[in-house]
Amino acid sequence: MERVVITEGPEETVALGEELAAELRPGDVVALVGELGSGKTTLVQGIARGLFVTDIVSSASFVLARTYRGKLPLHHLDAYRIGSPEELFEVGLDRYLPPEEGITVVEWADRIYDLIPKEALWITIEFLDGDRRKITLRRRP
Ligand SMILES: Nc1ncnc2c1ncn2[C@@H]1O[C@H](COP(=O)(O)OP(=O)(O)OP(=O)(O)O)[C@@H](O)[C@H]1O
Ligand SMILES: [Mg+2]
Repeated sequence: MERVVITEGPEETVALGEELAAELRPGDVVALVGELGSGKTTLVQGIARGLFVTDIVSSASFVLARTYRGKLPLHHLDAYRIGSPEELFEVGLDRYLPPEEGITVVEWADRIYDLIPKEALWITIEFLDGDRRKITLRRRP
């Protein structure tokens, strides 16, 4: 089962994330795939808004992971700088895959594909012309 959404700008991607947040349940993992600057963090900002997170969600790249408090805890992971799946275990991030509490969103999830739970929701963001993005949501890539 697949859903495709075209967004015309960042606000629409945020709105999609917000809508999605309402459907997420504790223990869910959202796996994001898309090139640099495609809008992964922007979508996470929408999910955060939908979970009533008040802190500002920024790129997690430099810290690998960050947890925000909202209606549910939101664990924001970024696999961009993770050299290997082993490294993820070394720093203990496997505890978020899946999380005991709250929701995990992973940017660059394709880089740690084998570590993503089978039940995860995969979201791929592709560039179209200008500010348009093609966002595909599916249970399995
Ligand atoms: N339709 C759109 N959806 C999302 N972002 C958009 C859209 N159109 C333009 N943008 C812009 O594209 C950029 C997306 O940046 P963002 O940090 O979300 O990407 P990213 O995929 O997380 O990048 P990175 O791989 O560096 O983590 C923002 O500057 C945003 O304003
Ligand atoms: Mg990002």
